[in-house]
Amino acid sequence: MDRRHRKGSPKFTVLLGLQFSLAPGLPLLPSSGLQNRRLEAACLYTVGRAQNVLEALKELSRRRQFLREHAAPFSAFLTDSFGRHHSYLRISLTEKCNLRCQYCMPEEGVPLTPKADLLTTEEILTLARLFVKEGVDKIRLTGGEPLIRPDVVDIVAQLHRLEGLRTIGVTTNGINLARLLPQLQKAGLSAINISLDTLVPAKFEFIVRRKGFHKVMEGIHKAIELGYSPVKVNCVVMRGLNEDELLDFVALTEGLPLDVRFIEYMPFDGNKWNVKKMVSYKEMLDTLRQQWPELEKLPEEESSTAKTFRVPGFRGQLSFITSMSEHFCGTCNRLRITADGNLKVCLFGNSEVSLRDHLRAGASEEELLGIIGAAVGRKKRQHAGMFSISQMKNRPMILIGG
Ligand SMILES: C[S@@+](CC[C@H](N)C(=O)[O-])C[C@H]1O[C@@H](n2cnc3c(N)ncnc32)[C@H](O)[C@@H]1O
Ligand code: SF4
Repeated sequence: MDRRHRKGSPKFTVLLGLQFSLAPGLPLLPSSGLQNRRLEAACLYTVGRAQNVLEALKELSRRRQFLREHAAPFSAFLTDSFGRHHSYLRISLTEKCNLRCQYCMPEEGVPLTPKADLLTTEEILTLARLFVKEGVDKIRLTGGEPLIRPDVVDIVAQLHRLEGLRTIGVTTNGINLARLLPQLQKAGLSAINISLDTLVPAKFEFIVRRKGFHKVMEGIHKAIELGYSPVKVNCVVMRGLNEDELLDFVALTEGLPLDVRFIEYMPFDGNKWNVKKMVSYKEMLDTLRQQWPELEKLPEEESSTAKTFRVPGFRGQLSFITSMSEHFCGTCNRLRITADGNLKVCLFGNSEVSLRDHLRAGASEEELLGIIGAAVGRKKRQHAGMFSISQMKNRPMILIGG
């Protein structure tokens, strides 16, 4: 063996480390002639691999440099001071809703903004156009309940004409979905999230304080029938309310192309949030693993807020939205516009700027971009943590648009 690679020399130690990571199947320490020869072979193998690794690293750094120099630049207005590119916009179409979910709406309801102060369809489209021009490629319509807005189909159709917009999604409680989906699909709707927190009809009425379970189920089946895949089902998990249904929800994914998304219960004004009612992702995962130890983690996009799993052999999948126990602020690419026209750069931050007022005051495109850019630039690195959020003044979820 080359004396420079003797046991104990720094190079030997490095080689052992490399061997361990690159040739884990080969023996590590010599104790006989045969083993010496095997170690020698291992060293040669390792040196060869190390050279390959160095070459690969050099190539990677050359490619990074190339991408830095040649990548299409992303809008400076939509890039925050931590380098996050905001390419995903959520627009709330209404503050109204045909349900009264306990975790979203205070029992006494919310004071609604006068109609004249809500964004008109033209204003929504003007803003959407501006954001898409700057690089937003995904818009989600939300609310309140977006499918009670009378011109929702027309809004989707108009958005569909925007060049550069790749995804138009909607988050809905599903009540009006079966009726509207064929038209929405024709208009260009490409993604659907349907909220459903229980599979027990009587419990549904208790949670959402209204009837409608069967309509939601009908909406889910219509979405599957029309080929949406996966159909995302949003389930807010609350202790004492529906955490006993996790297994039933996952069982649904055996035969249906659903992505059941278990959402950690988040604090908003008036929703009586309490840490004891929140079921963390880890706890949910433990419960599921007891039933399906073979649950496998699936890869996800960098900006995804979901941790996704699948029971091997099942058609659908399940995800966790861990906003509380493991926030995903580091890769956040979302901006929100409320129904009354405020830009909100963080779901859990109370800083807002009225785009509506500037629009109505006749601001030019450049001026609007300046205002948007300044708000995005002020976006914090991460939210303040669940306990601070629960103490903070924010809007109720229904007035933000989830
Ligand atoms: C505010 S809703 C608006 C869209 C539509 N009405 C719906 O229910 O799907 C958007 C999403 O936020 C979720 N949500 C509302 N309040 C929440 C809370 N306190 N914690 C976690 N998710 C919440 C709802 O379950 C829903 O999936
Ligand atoms: S979660 Fe959706 S359906 Fe439920 S009250 Fe809020 S806006 Fe309405």
